[in-house]
Amino acid sequence: MIDVPVKLGPRSYRILVGAGLLAQAGPEISRLGVGRKLALVTDPSIRALYGEVVAQSLAGAGFEVTTVLLPEGERAKTLEVAAQTWDRLLEAGLDRGSAVVALGGGAVGDLAGFVAATYMRGMHFVQLPTTLLAQVDASIGGKTAIDHPRAKNLIGAFHQPRLVLADTGALQTLPEREYRSGLAEVIKHGIVLDAAYFGEVERSAAALAKTPSGTPSRRSPAMRASPTARRCRSAWWRRRAWPSAWAWPPRRREPGKCGCSRRWVCPCARSGRRPSA
Ligand SMILES: NC(=O)c1ccc[n+]([C@@H]2O[C@H](COP(=O)([O-])OP(=O)(O)OC[C@H]3O[C@@H](n4cnc5c(N)ncnc54)[C@H](O)[C@@H]3O)[C@@H](O)[C@H]2O)c1
Repeated sequence: MIDVPVKLGPRSYRILVGAGLLAQAGPEISRLGVGRKLALVTDPSIRALYGEVVAQSLAGAGFEVTTVLLPEGERAKTLEVAAQTWDRLLEAGLDRGSAVVALGGGAVGDLAGFVAATYMRGMHFVQLPTTLLAQVDASIGGKTAIDHPRAKNLIGAFHQPRLVLADTGALQTLPEREYRSGLAEVIKHGIVLDAAYFGEVERSAAALAKTPSGTPSRRSPAMRASPTARRCRSAWWRRRAWPSAWAWPPRRREPGKCGCSRRWVCPCARSGRRPSA
């Protein structure tokens, strides 16, 4: 297991990364000293896969658990769903000492975090991310949000989790598309923040492209969590990591055979037709 401390003074927390961590949720959350009532916020697919193991672990640690089911994906991030979740928390008698536990991808984490940030002016929040994107990005840093009809993530708050448990075993059931979407985030972190890490990702590309293993990369959560690393977005790193894509000023594109300057959309370039002289 990898233990990454995020040092934010009184809002410090730990990110634990490893296989099988969902079964440790109860004992780990117990150590936080939160109240005995918890809201486990998840979606139906994730509950079917991991709800039981998490609920058992929480009950085993003496927690009284109210499960709140959200619509899947982006449909969870609405004011209506947030209001329904606030209602469920009120009915179950949760207070500021209680915790919201988000079990799922970035959408579940964003909605649950927003509810935790706003219910009774803020309550404890724990992230159990189950997608690669949520494990390397969305569960870390305290950004929570719901969508506005005009734009995504427009209404939200910064609310740090008390704990993040990233169970790499959960990636085994992730659809390939979701896994690749998370990989894109991993690659992006390398490009914008850390050239050495990007090199590590490049060298492991073949292995990363296969079915997820239980072995996480050591660098990603720490890199993501470090405020210094987050600020380090210099063009130097970008150029070093991916010189051709980030070259500045951009290289002039060669004209197409027909003389058209927009070669990549020029019909002659696409059809292979020789331009008339
Ligand atoms: N707060 C942040 O800093 C931050 C950062 C990046 C993205 N986000 C947000 O994250 C959201 C996208 O999150 P996402 O990419 O994790 O997708 P998602 O949360 O929308 O989940 C996608 C699907 O994967 C399923 N799923 C989740 N875990 C699974 C597992 N282990 N096995 C099988 N199926 C599983 C879910 O049920 C869902 O149907 C967006 O709303 C985006 O705005 C937030």
